[in-house]
Amino acid sequence: MNAPAKTEEFAVAQVQAEIPDGVYAETVLAVEHYTDRLFRFRMTRPAGFRFRSGEFAMIGLMVGDKPVYRAYSIASPAWDEELEFFSIKVPDGPLTSHLQAIKPGDTVLMRKKPTGTLVLDALTPGKRLYMFSTGTGIAPFASLIRDPETYEKFDEVILTHTCRDIAELKYGFDLVHEINNHEFLHEIVGDKLKHYPTVTREDFKYRGRITDLIESGKLFTDLGVPALDPAVDRGMICGSTAMLKDTKDLLEKAGLVEGSNNKPGEFVIERAFVG
Ligand code: A2P
Repeated sequence: MNAPAKTEEFAVAQVQAEIPDGVYAETVLAVEHYTDRLFRFRMTRPAGFRFRSGEFAMIGLMVGDKPVYRAYSIASPAWDEELEFFSIKVPDGPLTSHLQAIKPGDTVLMRKKPTGTLVLDALTPGKRLYMFSTGTGIAPFASLIRDPETYEKFDEVILTHTCRDIAELKYGFDLVHEINNHEFLHEIVGDKLKHYPTVTREDFKYRGRITDLIESGKLFTDLGVPALDPAVDRGMICGSTAMLKDTKDLLEKAGLVEGSNNKPGEFVIERAFVG
């Protein structure tokens, strides 16, 4: 009679032994693949896990008997009951080569403390908020554009997303569609959110690197807004190291000053996390 129970206890102990102490072990709920380089997944949110929209967390998987973690911006807003992440697939990436194979029901690890500078608290008050992103750098903005607080603080929110080709823009289009059809977000957001998708390696309505579009002024003409002005404009940047530097230089040239959690400013930056 006792034998099956003992086997079960042993099996449970074995599974628990695999999960390192002090981390959350969450269940994958949904996975969507966009291209051979990009996918998103949703997982359960631990009851006590609090974060500010725009922050990142360390996400991991057991690879063999060791946990492997990478920093991931949380793409879902702070009010969401689930957690969402948008990820690149790096064929030999220590984490993403495994993460890209996850399926609903699988376990994903998450360290307990979120952090980050792409938060509304790190910006001084302004009228227009620019979110500049390339590739998976859209993830923290996926969180912020779904957070009502963003629209309490800003009259206009401009999300720029630049990718190599049109297929890579789909996550951004889906987000805007979701907001426009959401039971309460669509009223809060109204016409405050402007989505500006561009591609660099394919023909499309909007073409080119965001840095070139800022420099030429085409971004502002296309949007029908004045050039960058530190009195009213605020910025957040998330992308590759080179994109961060080039965009930061342009914002500084326009007179905007970088801020942080301790010292709010006119723009903030964060690396897009890959690997
Ligand atoms: P490009 O096609 O001209 O390299 P990736 O997929 O390699 O992360 O790139 C995402 C997007 O970011 C691409 O459209 C790429 O343009 C663009 N990009 C790359 N480097 C920079 C940079 N220094 N400044 C602005 N955009 C950049």
